[in-house]
Amino acid sequence: MTEILRPDLAGIDRAATLLRSGGLVAIPTETVYGLAADACNGAAVARIYAAKGRPSFNPLIVHLAETQQARRYGLWSDLAEVLATAFWPGPLTLVLPLAPDHGLSSLVTAGLNSVAIRVPALDAAHQVLTAFGGPVAAPSANPSGRISATTARHVLDGLGGKIDAVLDAGPCPVGLESTIIGLHTPRPTLLRAGGLPVEAIEAALGEPLEIANGAEIIAPGQLASHYAPNARVRLNALSANPGEVMLGFGPVDGDLNLSPTGDLIEAAAHLFDHLHALDAMDKPIAVAPVPDHGLGRAINDRLERAAAPR
Ligand code: TXA
Ligand code: MG
Repeated sequence: MTEILRPDLAGIDRAATLLRSGGLVAIPTETVYGLAADACNGAAVARIYAAKGRPSFNPLIVHLAETQQARRYGLWSDLAEVLATAFWPGPLTLVLPLAPDHGLSSLVTAGLNSVAIRVPALDAAHQVLTAFGGPVAAPSANPSGRISATTARHVLDGLGGKIDAVLDAGPCPVGLESTIIGLHTPRPTLLRAGGLPVEAIEAALGEPLEIANGAEIIAPGQLASHYAPNARVRLNALSANPGEVMLGFGPVDGDLNLSPTGDLIEAAAHLFDHLHALDAMDKPIAVAPVPDHGLGRAINDRLERAAAPR
C-alpha cells in the first residue's frame, strides 16, 4: 500500500518519519517528482533502485534544504558560490568533488568521487527536507525507462504499491528535470540540459559552458565516468585463486561478503564500498556469483563493467 500524503503539517511530518525509518517517499519538487530516501542509509537507497527496476546503478542527486549544507557533502568553490547564490533554491544541480567524511551511502554516488547536489525551491520539498534534516537521495519518481512523473497520479501509475508514500502537492511547475552543471571538471560543464536555461547560467558565470558530449548528456555518470576498480576482476568465482582477493555473496564467502544471508538489498548497499576496499589491496578480485534477478541485475551490470577489458 502506498500512502497518499497532503502537504500539510501532518503529511510533511509523516514523510519525514518514513524517510527516517528507511522508507521511500515520492516528493514533489519544482522540476519533477523525486523518489526520496535517506542518502546516508545504503539499504534505503538500494530500495530506490529496486522500486524503479533500474537495470544499472546511476549516481543519484542529493537534495538539501539549505545551500549552506552543501559544503558538508561537496567541495565548495568560488564557482559553486556564484551559481548557488544565483540559482538556489531552484532547478539547478551542481556536480562537485566529494567532500571528506561526507557520510553518504556509496550507492548514491555509484562509487564516484563526485556528488550531484541540488536545493529545490518548491515549498513542499523544502518543508520535507527541513523536517527530515539530512541529505535525501532522489531520482525522478518513474519506473526505469519511462518518462518522469510531474503529478502524484503519474507516480502512482508507475510506482503505486512499490513505495511507502507519495506527497501530493499538485503538478510540478517546471515539469522538466534540473539542469546539471559539472564543477568537478577543469571548466564548468553542461552535463544535462533542463529546467534552468543555459543562457542564464552563462550570464551568471560570465563565460560559456563547456558542453559534454551527447552520450554524457543523456546519461551522465553512466558512461565514461563510471566507477571501475584498478584491479582485474574475475566474475562467477566459487573460490579465490592464489594471489586473488575475494568478494563473496551468500554462502560463497570471501575476504568481504556483499551479503552473507544472500539479501540483494544489503548486497547493493555494500557493492561500491566493498569493491573500493578490495581494490585498495592491489590484487586481482574474484567475485562470487550474484543471482540475476531483482537488484541482482543492477549489481551484475556494475560487476560486468568492472570486469570488462580496459
Ligand atoms: O530535477 C531533477 O533533477 C530530478 C528531481 C527529482 O530532483 N531528479 C532527477 O534525478 O532527474 P535522475 O536520477 O533521474 O537524474 C540524475 C542525473 C543522472 O543522469 C545521473 O547520471 C546524474 O544526475 N548524476 C548524478 N550524480 C552524478 C555525478 N556525480 N556525476 C555525473 N552525473 C551525475
Ligand atoms: Mg530520471
